[in-house]
Amino acid sequence: MMPEPGYELELRREGRAIFYSPKIPEERSFAPTSLPVFFNPFSKPNRDVTVLFLAAWFGGLKIRACDALAGVGVRSIRMLLETDVVGEVTVNDVSPRAYELIKLNMEINKLGEFVEVTYMDANELLAECGRERPRYHYVDIDPAGSPAPFIENGVRGCRRGGVIGATATDMPALVGAKPESCLRKYDAKPLRVPFSKEIALRILAGFITRSAARLGIAAKPILSFSKDHYIRVFAVVERGRRLANEVLRSIGWISYCPSCLAIRVAGRFDGPIMACESCGGRMDYAGPAWIRELTSQELAGRVYQKALENPELYRESLKLLDGLRREDHGLLGYHPVNHLARIFGGSPVKPSILIEKLRELGYRASTTHIDPSGVKTDAPLEVLRRVFEELRSKS
Ligand SMILES: C[S@@+](CC[C@H](N)C(=O)[O-])C[C@H]1O[C@@H](n2cnc3c(N)ncnc32)[C@H](O)[C@@H]1O
Ligand SMILES: [Zn+2]
Repeated sequence: MMPEPGYELELRREGRAIFYSPKIPEERSFAPTSLPVFFNPFSKPNRDVTVLFLAAWFGGLKIRACDALAGVGVRSIRMLLETDVVGEVTVNDVSPRAYELIKLNMEINKLGEFVEVTYMDANELLAECGRERPRYHYVDIDPAGSPAPFIENGVRGCRRGGVIGATATDMPALVGAKPESCLRKYDAKPLRVPFSKEIALRILAGFITRSAARLGIAAKPILSFSKDHYIRVFAVVERGRRLANEVLRSIGWISYCPSCLAIRVAGRFDGPIMACESCGGRMDYAGPAWIRELTSQELAGRVYQKALENPELYRESLKLLDGLRREDHGLLGYHPVNHLARIFGGSPVKPSILIEKLRELGYRASTTHIDPSGVKTDAPLEVLRRVFEELRSKS
């Protein structure tokens, strides 16, 4: 018999899961945080990518996962039903209402024996790991807002070779609209530039690495993406001070020249570059942030292949995953073509044509999943300008 939760429920489907959520208001602009239990149907791609990532990364293993801020529990249900790898999940939410709903949702999916449902503060739960509670292969941190308060215990809760996956939805802080908020939460300076969202990913990845390093743990990003109103980073966790020192070398400063569009990076000990060596102008900077690859190209390809095994189930995420596998993750930053047009003059040229031309000249160039109008390249700025001007005059 269906218990009476004291608010209206509706039965939903997402992926292979069937579950109850609070009744969702009609208008698209509703605030999921105002529901009796949090649920956002528009975050399906976040859950899709999590499930596909787990299948691709842990293939062949049976793993234990912790869904530390679970809401209605749909992510855990999908991990169990849509992968062969997830064998057990601790499904936790601090809200007693969420706890009751999670239990009901596990029952209707007949998953009771594979889950432990808890209602603890996520930090208390994760801090138990390694003592009363074995560490997990995978820890998921998916708060409404900043994941920063949960990262240290999140990495503590991962076993050797385990992975932490963290979402951030506090984009105004991370893209530089609220720099003080970013400094407070991530101890980093953001930057309002045409590739702010990539910097946001780099600040979050860097924060995970720095939080882990304090504990003698090495955390390194392996898959990272930006979509709609949020960003997400998956980082693999190893133990040992030597390894932690090594990954810290990938943390540094990113400088940008608004006059000539130069992007430069500097190591942590060197300090940010402030004067532009291309035009002599003043550069502004972001950091500390992750300055190497945010995503493994090979892994992005495997995650995409997993999605293609069932394209109907993952329809909303195919474009994002295709973009991630095509992107050259060795390049830092990107230039939206309309911004190039503003600086170089004239009207924008098609990103695909600009990329093709730069590649013909022997430079690295690629699209970015973050912005369909963006061009990533290692070509010097004079070359970028010349190619842009040539193509513009042809069109
Ligand atoms: C964004 S929702 C989770 C959505 C869910 N992961 C999904 O994919 O549908 C965040 C959840 O975290 C819970 N929460 C907030 N603070 C918490 C804390 N300190 N410990 C555990 N859960 C918390 C909230 O009750 C809310 O249900
Ligand atoms: Zn310059």
